[in-house]
Amino acid sequence: MRNNKNNTTRELRLGINIDHVATIRNARGGLHPDPLRAAHLAIAAGADGVTAHLREDRRHISDSDIARLKRELTRPLNLEMAATDEMLAIAVKHVPNACCLVPERRQERTTEGGLDVAGGGRRLKRVVSALKDAGIRVSLFIEPDPATIEASVALGADIVELHTGRYCDLALEGRPKSIAEEVKRLAQAAKFADAAGLEVHAGHGLTYNTVAAVAAMPQIVELNIGHFLIGEAIFGGLGQAVSHMGKLMREARAASDEALAESAFKPSKASPAAPKRSRV
Ligand code: PXP
Repeated sequence: MRNNKNNTTRELRLGINIDHVATIRNARGGLHPDPLRAAHLAIAAGADGVTAHLREDRRHISDSDIARLKRELTRPLNLEMAATDEMLAIAVKHVPNACCLVPERRQERTTEGGLDVAGGGRRLKRVVSALKDAGIRVSLFIEPDPATIEASVALGADIVELHTGRYCDLALEGRPKSIAEEVKRLAQAAKFADAAGLEVHAGHGLTYNTVAAVAAMPQIVELNIGHFLIGEAIFGGLGQAVSHMGKLMREARAASDEALAESAFKPSKASPAAPKRSRV
């Protein structure tokens, strides 16, 4: 594939977040459904990697899930975690391909807002360098703003994952002007981060209807998507949901240019409508 702007198209990977397979399992306390089985199925359907968030309260993914994922997966594991000593020790023990550091509050239903990189102080710095020393690529989950990108570079991050939650919330509310502004902010942040030498990922709240505008941003090389795909799996199966999302991503990337990336999101007629985004 060729990019209209600079004649090189970067690959766009899909990372499947399997947290909510564990949410359903934990509702009954047994072993079913198994997040590892879901990960294998998603990979067979075209997912390029697997993401799991080991939360401090273990509300979905467990320590043993992480051990099994790391041991048995055939694709890279991206471990999302808070920048705490407990999580650092787990990461260094299992050595996932990447760790994405996220802000975490016990009361929140999902990760709300990006990491305060500039205000992260000595602890964030220490966690980033310990992960890097262990050979783990470090990603920071951030709001799409230039000051936070600069702070991420200063901290030595390899990757930034741009938070698409605000864009997806606005899309659900159907506010075209605000959607266009937020898409533009994401596109400019992707360009800025790439120019600063960071690998650029994005995610949170993405659905069939919102993915194209983000997938069209040529600097972004990975999207991490969970809740919507696991929800869609109820209706058509996980394999079908993953492969349809991959198709939408490839189509948007093939047509990608900056004008498309900065245009407002348009609901896709071909795709099922996105349900109202849950905060779970
Ligand atoms: N990226 C990060 C850093 C996240 O914390 C999450 C949610 O766990 C996601 C992506 C996936 O978000 P969603 O489940 O809404 O697709």
